[in-house]
Amino acid sequence: MKAISVFPGKPNSVHVADLPKPSLDQVPNGRGVLVKVLRVGVDGTDKEINAAEYGAAPPGYDFLVIGHVGFGQVEAVGPNVTEVKPGDYVVATVRRPGQSIYDLIGTNDMTTDDTYYERGINLRHGYLTEHYVDDVEFIVKVPKGLKQVGVLLEPTTVVEKGIHQAYEIQRRLKVWRPRKAAVMGAGTIGLLATLVLRLKGLDVTTFGRTAKPYLNSDLIEELGARYVSTKDIPISEAAKQNGPFDLIFEGTGNSSVVFDSMQALGKNGVLVLASVTGGDKMIQIPADRINLEFVLGNKVMVGTVNANREYFEMGVGHMSQAEAEYPGWLNKLLTDPVRGLENYGELFKKLTSPNGAIKVFCEVA
Ligand code: BGC
Ligand code: ZN
Repeated sequence: MKAISVFPGKPNSVHVADLPKPSLDQVPNGRGVLVKVLRVGVDGTDKEINAAEYGAAPPGYDFLVIGHVGFGQVEAVGPNVTEVKPGDYVVATVRRPGQSIYDLIGTNDMTTDDTYYERGINLRHGYLTEHYVDDVEFIVKVPKGLKQVGVLLEPTTVVEKGIHQAYEIQRRLKVWRPRKAAVMGAGTIGLLATLVLRLKGLDVTTFGRTAKPYLNSDLIEELGARYVSTKDIPISEAAKQNGPFDLIFEGTGNSSVVFDSMQALGKNGVLVLASVTGGDKMIQIPADRINLEFVLGNKVMVGTVNANREYFEMGVGHMSQAEAEYPGWLNKLLTDPVRGLENYGELFKKLTSPNGAIKVFCEVA
C-alpha cells in the first residue's frame, strides 16, 4: 500500500513509500480496528516535518509516514471491539501513551516524558496512507451527519483542549462569567476557536493580518463574531474598543503576538497559548508593565498542546452543534482538496503557498 513519507532530518524528502497492509492481529486482546483512510488534512506541522525541522521515524525505519489529521471508515474490528463496527466513520487520536503518570490515566497530551509518540509526527507512522490499524482506545466515532467535515475534527480538538483548560483553571475564581473573548489568528485554528467560543455564547473578536473582506473574515462574521485586521487597528487599540478580554486564544504561530495578547488580557483573564514556534526569534517588550499588570490583575497564562480522547469527543459535540446552528459553515473551511495519494507534490505545494487556502487535505479514497 502507498504511504506518503519523509526521511526525517533530510529536507524536502517527501515521497511515496510502499508498506504492507496492516492487520488486526497487530493489536493485542482482540481490540484492533482496521480503518480505510478517506481523507487526511495537512498543516504547519507537516510543513516543518518536510523541512526536517521536526519529526522522527519509528524504531526500525528510516522513514516516517506523515499525516496526523485523519478521517476514515472502519473496515474490520477485532473480536473484543464493541465501540465501533465496520462502516462507521472514525478519527484516530494523535498521541500515544508514554511512561509518566499522566499517560497512565489516559491523558497522554499532558505527558511529562521527554520523548513523546505522535502518529504521523514523532516515532509512529501516520495516516497519509491507504489503511491503518489501531487499538479502539484511540479511535473516536464520528456521526454520519459529520462525514463531510470529519477531517476537521483533529484541529478542533486542539482548540477544545485549550478552551477547556482555560475553564478548568478559572474555577479558581469561584464565579467566572466570561463575556468577551479574543482569538489571535484567523487560519484554521483561529476559525475553529472562534466557532467554539461563539457556541459557548461569548462575544468574540478575532484578529488577523489580512484586511477584510476576504473568505476568513466573512466566515468569522457569519458566526456573529467581529473580525479585526491588525493592519487597520493595533491589538492594544482594539482591546480598548472591544475588551476587556476575559479569555484570549493565541494561535497565530507568531510568538511576538503572545506579548501583545498579555497586554490585551483583562483582569482575572486567562490567556491560552497554542502556537508551536520552532524558531529563535528575539523581541523587545515592556517587561515591567506586562508583569505588573499580570500581578495586579490576577491574570493567568497557559500553554496547551495536542488533545486526548476526551477532547475528540467534545469536538464531535461542538461540530454537531455547529452543523445545527451554522449549517454548512464547517464545510466552507475545506477549501483545497487534492485527489489521490500520488498527488502529494500538489498537496505540499498548496500547503507551502496557501494562496487563500484554509484547509488543504488529501482525498485518499
Ligand atoms: C498537532 C498536534 C501535535 C502538535 C505537536 C500539531 O500540529 O495537531 O496534535 O501535538 O502538532 O507535535
Ligand atoms: Zn496538526
